[in-house]
Amino acid sequence: MCGIVGYIGSEQAAPILLDGLTRLEYRGYDSAGVSIHDGHKLNVIKTKGRLRILSDMIDGGNSVHGVSGIGHTRWATHGKPSNENSHPHVSNSGNIAVVHNGIIENYLQLREFLTSRGVKFNSETDTEVVAQLVDYYYDGDLLKAVHRAIDRIEGSYALGIMAAYYPDMIVAACKDSPLIAALSEKGNFIASDVTAVLKHTRDVIYLEDGEYAVLTPESVDVFDSFLEPVEKAVSHIDWDISSAEKGGYEHFMFKEIMEQPEVIRKTMAPRIRNRKVILDDIQLSKEYIKGINKIYIVACGSSYHVGMVAKYNIEKLARKPVEVALASEFRYCTPIVDEKTLVVCISQSGTTADTIAAMREAKRLGGRVLSIVNVVGSTIAKESDDVIYTWAGPEIAVATTKAYSTQLAVTYLLSIYLADCCGTINADEYERLVGELLTIPDKIECILKDKEHIQYLASLYFNNRDIFFIGRNIDYALSLEGSLKLKEISYIHSDAYAAGELKHGTISLVEDGTLVIAAATYQRLLEKTISNIVEVKARAAQVLSVTTESGKGLVAQVSDNMMVIPDIDELFLPSLAVVPMQLFAYYVALLRGCDIDKPRNLAKSVTVE
Ligand code: G6P
Repeated sequence: MCGIVGYIGSEQAAPILLDGLTRLEYRGYDSAGVSIHDGHKLNVIKTKGRLRILSDMIDGGNSVHGVSGIGHTRWATHGKPSNENSHPHVSNSGNIAVVHNGIIENYLQLREFLTSRGVKFNSETDTEVVAQLVDYYYDGDLLKAVHRAIDRIEGSYALGIMAAYYPDMIVAACKDSPLIAALSEKGNFIASDVTAVLKHTRDVIYLEDGEYAVLTPESVDVFDSFLEPVEKAVSHIDWDISSAEKGGYEHFMFKEIMEQPEVIRKTMAPRIRNRKVILDDIQLSKEYIKGINKIYIVACGSSYHVGMVAKYNIEKLARKPVEVALASEFRYCTPIVDEKTLVVCISQSGTTADTIAAMREAKRLGGRVLSIVNVVGSTIAKESDDVIYTWAGPEIAVATTKAYSTQLAVTYLLSIYLADCCGTINADEYERLVGELLTIPDKIECILKDKEHIQYLASLYFNNRDIFFIGRNIDYALSLEGSLKLKEISYIHSDAYAAGELKHGTISLVEDGTLVIAAATYQRLLEKTISNIVEVKARAAQVLSVTTESGKGLVAQVSDNMMVIPDIDELFLPSLAVVPMQLFAYYVALLRGCDIDKPRNLAKSVTVE
């Protein structure tokens, strides 16, 4: 969470920082600020609220002059969103300014230490101790002062630091929080994410944990944790800024929903050759795969929901036991992992703090980590034994859609691949499944063509107060995602239940008119699900079902309304069925006037525990 950007060069810094921050707002948007060096001193402008408030305060950056600066957009952890708690934080002398992403875990001890030496604090944040500590240690060398301060810090950080004494220097450092440096003719940058700098350059350096970068208008020098110089490779980003822009759509979420057929093709096509699943990306030997004793899938949020689908599919196809764990639980539940355990970490961003920690714990216990990640070069991708990239391109809306869909596609490929290695599917079945897999993008296109019908359904139900999702097996995994999508962007209370479980308590909440969204795509259990639908109908619920062409005859008899998807092999149903659910959530949120791309209290990249 929190977005950092810094620029030093020949152009006015403030407009560049504001533009970069706009692209990082997905990381947090409760306050924003910049610190610009005017050649003599640091000028700090910061405010509670969205970036546009900051932008208005400084006339889009035109009223603050200077060619170097750092900026920040915040997702509050320590201290409520307020002007004082906004970044940059400045030391008492006004000489050191800091922007930070992460958490300084020992900030209370450091605060006490500094207070006992006469330092006065102006905010409730953990970050302020960094600014004060760097100032405290400063004796003529900024990099050394930062190094000494970091030596005393415990926790995670990506830092951008400027000093009044150095109009032409930014110092950056990171540990367990992403940070890149970027190089261009007109100056150099730091940022939490490449999207913030893509307008200016595609040449980036990924900073590793414990590294420092010193930026001047002409150079970027990187040092290791002992301040020894490090030679870093410059990576060239090959996607361009248009993929991070709305392209005529009203919301990023809608654009990303519409992009799904294309990105799924991109994810699958290079990995299916001559109707064979080829996973060149990974180095798992057939012997290793055969010997796997257990697969753990570890993730958070929607990525966890992908894991739920993958569990059903891997167990069904490859006959290996799969446990799906929330990353925040996995690390504290004494997991049973050994060298025969494959731990699959799923993460769009590759920077989710809990998933990183779970991955490290899995490795410490001797497991082999295979990650499914979207952001190339992210922490999880770098530290895993194997990585399969989802290639969804940049996903900007906080509520994930296309990243979820490409993650699903990768898990299908993986399930078939594992099953083939384990000899648990025969050649005909293999070929049939690969054929079915390839039909997913076209079938999603069909569903997207019918979006007006889903918009109409949203208009019937957008005023509901509580909505329950039910489904069995793979439909249950799907319901979890459908429910999350709806609640995160529309703020309607919603929960998902295994359809057979509803009667063990939650059915007491169903009353006249309560909307139940029934996922009824899984043909094998259709009759069971229909029985559960009938149970809620008997309590006067309204039922909106998601079903298939071949299921719709039966399902229509017990539903008030339906969203119908094309038929496909049962393993891949969630890829189709999630699309009407995403659209339903989107249109409901639209009708309720919600801020769809930036729902309240959320952030896309959750880099705190
Ligand atoms: C946040 C996002 C979710 C996402 C989750 C896990 O909560 O809002 O959309 O599913 O983090 O993120 P990851 O990047 O690890 O997939």
